[in-house]
Amino acid sequence: MKIIMLGAPGAGKGTQAKKIAEKYQIPHISTGDIFRANIKGGTELGMKAKTFMDQGMLVPDEITIGMLMDRIGHCINGYVLDGFPRTIPQAESLTKALAERGEKVDYAINVDVPDENIINRMSGRRACLGCGATYHITFNPPVKEGICDTCGQELVLRDDDKPETVKKRLDVYHQQTQPLIDYYKNAEVLAEVDGTQPMDAVFQGIVEILGE
Ligand code: AP5
Ligand code: MG
Repeated sequence: MKIIMLGAPGAGKGTQAKKIAEKYQIPHISTGDIFRANIKGGTELGMKAKTFMDQGMLVPDEITIGMLMDRIGHCINGYVLDGFPRTIPQAESLTKALAERGEKVDYAINVDVPDENIINRMSGRRACLGCGATYHITFNPPVKEGICDTCGQELVLRDDDKPETVKKRLDVYHQQTQPLIDYYKNAEVLAEVDGTQPMDAVFQGIVEILGE
């Protein structure tokens, strides 16, 4: 099963992708998480990506496409992609790479949340730099404040979750990523869920799309 998560920053792509990965036993691949791991590790890729991410801009396609293709190269049983593709050239590269192996994307799930809800969600998000788990101080708090339930490391506010940067990320989303909704509608693999519902209800909607 090859699944793509579409949706604005903060729509809940990461939250739902983790649940999908667990239920259907496929890897969860998040380009944002890969970039953040590289930033934390001080790699050259991380340094390059950080300058774009901190401004709420996309990391250039030349960097992102190669990195993602390497990562999915040996995933033969499928995956859930979270944060890729984000531009039409990225989608086209993925379509082409899969077609060369006689494969295609099975589902593009658009988690739909209006901009008004997004800023609120981002300011309350806390992320674990250790294992990538995501929390929300109101909607999904950890058992112990500021500490990850899974790995015990400290939870932080992401550098790009400041309100000014979130506004920029939303602009970039509407310009560069939203057109992918039509791209995958034309490919007849688009499914939509209402992302304003509570997390479990959103996941229930996704399970109805993917099947038990
Ligand atoms: P990335 O890490 O992918 O960030 P994003 O798309 O901006 O999305 P987020 O991770 O912020 O949100 P999400 O949809 O995963 O929401 P979450 O589940 O956390 O990318 C970061 C940056 O990396 C980009 O800006 C770009 O620079 C670069 N990048 C990455 N991929 C790239 C690519 N392909 N090309 C170029 N550049 C790339 O949920 C948000 C919050 O809401 C959480 O606190 C959560 O607990 C809460 N929440 C979730 N669901 C609900 C719900 N139903 N009700 C209430 N609260 C909820
Ligand atoms: Mg995410």
